[in-house]
Amino acid sequence: MYYQGLINKYRKYLPVTDSTEIVTLNEGNTPLIKADNLAKKIGINVNLYLKFEGCNPTGSFKDRGMTMAVTKAKEAGANAIICASTGNTSASAAAYGAKAGIKTFVLIPDGYIALGKLSQAMMYGAEIIAIKGNFDQALDCVREISSKYPVTLVNSVNPYRIEGQKTGAFEICDALGKAPEYHFIPVGNAGNITAYWKGYKEYREAGIINNLPKMAGFEAEGSAAIVRGERILTPETIATAIRIGNPASWKQAEAARDESGGKIGCVTDEKIIEAYKMIASTEGILCEPASAASVAGLIQAHTAGFVQPETDVVCILTGNGLKDPDNAIKYSNADVKKTSAEINDVLRVMGI
Ligand code: F0G
Repeated sequence: MYYQGLINKYRKYLPVTDSTEIVTLNEGNTPLIKADNLAKKIGINVNLYLKFEGCNPTGSFKDRGMTMAVTKAKEAGANAIICASTGNTSASAAAYGAKAGIKTFVLIPDGYIALGKLSQAMMYGAEIIAIKGNFDQALDCVREISSKYPVTLVNSVNPYRIEGQKTGAFEICDALGKAPEYHFIPVGNAGNITAYWKGYKEYREAGIINNLPKMAGFEAEGSAAIVRGERILTPETIATAIRIGNPASWKQAEAARDESGGKIGCVTDEKIIEAYKMIASTEGILCEPASAASVAGLIQAHTAGFVQPETDVVCILTGNGLKDPDNAIKYSNADVKKTSAEINDVLRVMGI
């Protein structure tokens, strides 16, 4: 049957009615890829799966929440939407805003968003405002603006975003016929870990699964507010998508950890880059650096003895590596060999 996006597929779990006009780019339905090569490389004896959210229409998991948030904004008659973003939310909001015919304002930290994400927001036609400040300051700003002016906030503090994003958990359970034993996920503003945990719990309440995963969220070390237990005023990490020092869903992330018997940890930039390269070279999947925090977290948790063998483990790869070509080129170590167009020269370079 023709796939029409996640609201249509999971409508009975979502706040829509038959008369709701759905704004969709046919998001969701992303591949859950068995990653035997990566498991072997890590040296872990589990069924490892990568949920590649980079296959969404704008290249990140944000589309799951944005289809829902923009559908509801349109239903409520909104003329404009606004968000703060480290890049992916702005790309997604801009795309769904374009599809819905709603004006989109995005606030981004000047100089700290990956090139591809900026180019997306530009092409989709958003009003882009680059502030001299970080994501947390941008979020404070848009929260205040949306409370005073007729513009709908579409960051993950908008509950419809969480509703849409919880469908990622449904898809994993539908694919495996159960919940995995462990769910590894990067943590920035902490909306996604909140959404997945909600999704797993709802599927269990509905009787579709009867187990729940341990939720393991990972922040970047230089931005690890939850791990350190305090707001970080100047968050830093190479993984700009999760360069966040005051996660909006902080409490909900801790609840997911505590209710599931999971953990929230942090990984260094060095380990993030190592995982980023390992995923690409062993599995043929290019995710963005922030996404690799899930796999870096798995490696760390495995070393610490947190992961039982012969279990199902899912790592969420939240965004597509094509969004950040600068980092891909910088860290790949690939040597591009140049030569003439003569076949003998090409053969020589090939070492034949
Ligand atoms: N991975 C990627 C690729 C992201 O873009 C984000 C968040 C996260 C992980 C973390 O998810 O915030 O739900 O904990 N990006 C937001 C943005 C902040 O503006 O695009 P989270």
